[in-house]
Amino acid sequence: MDISSILQGGYQHPLSRSWQGRRQLTKSMFMYPIFITDDPDASVVISSLPGQRRWGVNQLESFLGPLVKKGLKSVILFGVPLNCEKDGRGTPADDPSGPVIQAIKKIRLLFPSLYIACDVCLCEYTSHGHCGLLHTDGTINTKPSVLRLAEVSVNYAKAGAHCVAPSDMMDGRIKAIKQAFIDADLASKCTLMSYSAKFASALYGPFRDAAGSAPSFGDRKCYQLPPTAKGLARRAIQRDMVEGADIIMVKPALPYLDIISDAAQLAPDHPLACYQVSGEFAMVHAGAAAGVYDLKTMAFETTESMVRAGATLILSYFTPDFLDWLEM
Ligand code: PBG
Ligand code: ZN
Repeated sequence: MDISSILQGGYQHPLSRSWQGRRQLTKSMFMYPIFITDDPDASVVISSLPGQRRWGVNQLESFLGPLVKKGLKSVILFGVPLNCEKDGRGTPADDPSGPVIQAIKKIRLLFPSLYIACDVCLCEYTSHGHCGLLHTDGTINTKPSVLRLAEVSVNYAKAGAHCVAPSDMMDGRIKAIKQAFIDADLASKCTLMSYSAKFASALYGPFRDAAGSAPSFGDRKCYQLPPTAKGLARRAIQRDMVEGADIIMVKPALPYLDIISDAAQLAPDHPLACYQVSGEFAMVHAGAAAGVYDLKTMAFETTESMVRAGATLILSYFTPDFLDWLEM
């Protein structure tokens, strides 16, 4: 055998195996998506998302306390309004008494060191369930949409959010939000994480159940990217960098590892997030329940592939599990 044939000498031990990755998973890489509803005492199982619930603000202390103790560093909040009047402009999104703003204030008080990101979108709050404001013919009306998204972002930042993350995919919203932050003197106080390359995916199903955000007509294909669209994804990433995004995100994650890798090359000086979305999480669970693989092994394999592709931050419903599984 040739000297150049031998590789196994380099990874014969668990420690030398761990050195083979450029970076390792750590607890601080995980951001936990949580659903906050407007019944303050709610703790309601979401059947399509194993282990996840819709929480009321009065439950946050007992829900998050043990996780913070285990090393939870960040959450991303999704509002699930069930008892409010939805309208064409998504008025309940930044209702000061609504679940997101109430939750931001509560978490800041309860857990001052926990980093709070807020998803910014209108679909949970509009009567039609689309992510922006519409023309009368049902198409997206971009200009008022980005102004409304900027307004909501400012109100989340004013309430104490450390980060806003627009997931709507309207053109020009990153620039509009950054400008609104500058005008409100918030630009250096709140991070802007852009869902830059967000694809029109079949993997959002359990989330739309959980958040009640399915569109009442049509689909999101005129704003979320076509799954084949590598070029559009690259252009969206570059556009959002120029428009002032502090963090770039790719979503979903596992079927789009090539896009994560492209983003790492296009935006080498930005943190790079990816979202292991509800359907990916449900798939990993379903496969494990069917005996296809071991749950923990597969949870590691999927998220480690994201880190290998270049992600520095992972939004995942597995976050509480990783707090148990990881040492640091
Ligand atoms: C809202 C939004 C969605 C997700 C995050 N923000 C759903 C969608 O775009 O339809 C999906 C997250 C998940 O599936 O876990 N725009
Ligand atoms: Zn939306």
